[in-house]
Amino acid sequence: MDRIAIVGGARLEGEIPISGAKNSAIKLMAASLLSDQPLRLTNMPRLADTRFLGKLLRRLGAAVIEMDGPEGSETVLHTPEITSALAPYDLVRQMRASFNVLGPLIARTGHAKVSLPGGCAIGARPVDLHLKALEALGAHIDLNEGYVYAQAPRGLEGATIAFPFVSVGATEHTMLAAVLADGETVLENAAREPEIVDLAECLNAMGAKVEGAGSPTIRIKGVAKLHGAVHAVVPDRIETGAFACAVAMAGGDVTLTQSRPEHVRALLDAMAAAGVELDETVDTIRVRRGAGRLKAADITTEPYPGLATDLQSPFMALMTMAQGVSVIRETIFENRFMHVPELARLGADISIAGNEARVTGVEALTGAQVMATDLRASVSLVIAGLAAKGETVVNRVYHLDRGFERLEQKLGACGANVRRISGDQEEAA
Ligand code: UD1
Repeated sequence: MDRIAIVGGARLEGEIPISGAKNSAIKLMAASLLSDQPLRLTNMPRLADTRFLGKLLRRLGAAVIEMDGPEGSETVLHTPEITSALAPYDLVRQMRASFNVLGPLIARTGHAKVSLPGGCAIGARPVDLHLKALEALGAHIDLNEGYVYAQAPRGLEGATIAFPFVSVGATEHTMLAAVLADGETVLENAAREPEIVDLAECLNAMGAKVEGAGSPTIRIKGVAKLHGAVHAVVPDRIETGAFACAVAMAGGDVTLTQSRPEHVRALLDAMAAAGVELDETVDTIRVRRGAGRLKAADITTEPYPGLATDLQSPFMALMTMAQGVSVIRETIFENRFMHVPELARLGADISIAGNEARVTGVEALTGAQVMATDLRASVSLVIAGLAAKGETVVNRVYHLDRGFERLEQKLGACGANVRRISGDQEEAA
């Protein structure tokens, strides 16, 4: 298993290009199953998760071709026919979002057998809302031996679905099924994340009729067929926010390019309150921090446009060296403080009570061996390592590789002292 070693203390200078959003790319890839014509996705991030979903889509009958075009990485997905409507446990277990093939499979073929994703490290994460919404669209759902068996032999039918609370995954999944349903579907209390808007734009480019994405009410007029399209993946707001925190932690002057500042507004507000200097254009963010310490600032994670739960751990890492006490409230997931004991190994002073972490800023962190527990937690350890004295070694970086494209190269190009220690090399040594 690879590890990442960081020697803290280097200031960062330069530019970091932001990649396409992982969380959007994987739903867009699933959308390709809805048409028998090719979907060409540009600005695609090259990540373990997208490679992984490509593998599952090939099993279902898709041709998945990755290439480097004039505007960066592209993926063309083409499924003339669904040759299997089975998504097996060994593939869904490895990446939860694979479950999102269920809706497109039922919509296109009238039946599907998809493994339940099972638990995951950040809490129970059930899929009850996904299944209820598909049932509301007329799918018959049976759960047996860990699989969802879904049938809609006469196709899906539009319905009004009011979600009891906001779920990004359930909103997207319902959109992916409803675009081919007969009649109109109305989603109430829908998630408003930029990835929802991105999915709606891609589906509309494929001939769907989706209105209201980005607001709490989404209206979808079902169409009989979707066609091919070209769509550019929205910039990754989580990568943007994580790098903004990394620069603020290390100190320096870095411009994040190809990004969408308005998608990280809540984080930028919190960073500005902490004393980070920020200048933005429509697609760049210049992040500067001089020699002085930042001030503690409080955050609460919320559905978009509130501060993203995926940016909670990067911001917490930043607060470990701020002056004062920062209160960080997590309202989306349980068990999302797994990075706290690891940050403590570097000398951070953090106490947890329920869903609230109190971070008392310290003057210095010291490098140590730490363990990445999940994707979002692992990046916080890299961020802390950038400012810690001496060497920090982050173990189990496969979590990072799921969601961050070329993380060590992007930071290294700005002067960070970061290197990957490949597991193969170590075993050979
Ligand atoms: C997505 C993102 C993830 C991000 C999260 C919240 C992807 C691949 N992942 O996850 O990075 O942290 O949004 O912004 O896009 N819930 C249920 N029943 C359901 C569905 C969800 O109880 O059927 C609960 C979850 O346990 C959680 C809350 O709803 O407490 C919100 O989860 P949701 O918005 O669905 O997150 P994901 O789509 O899984």
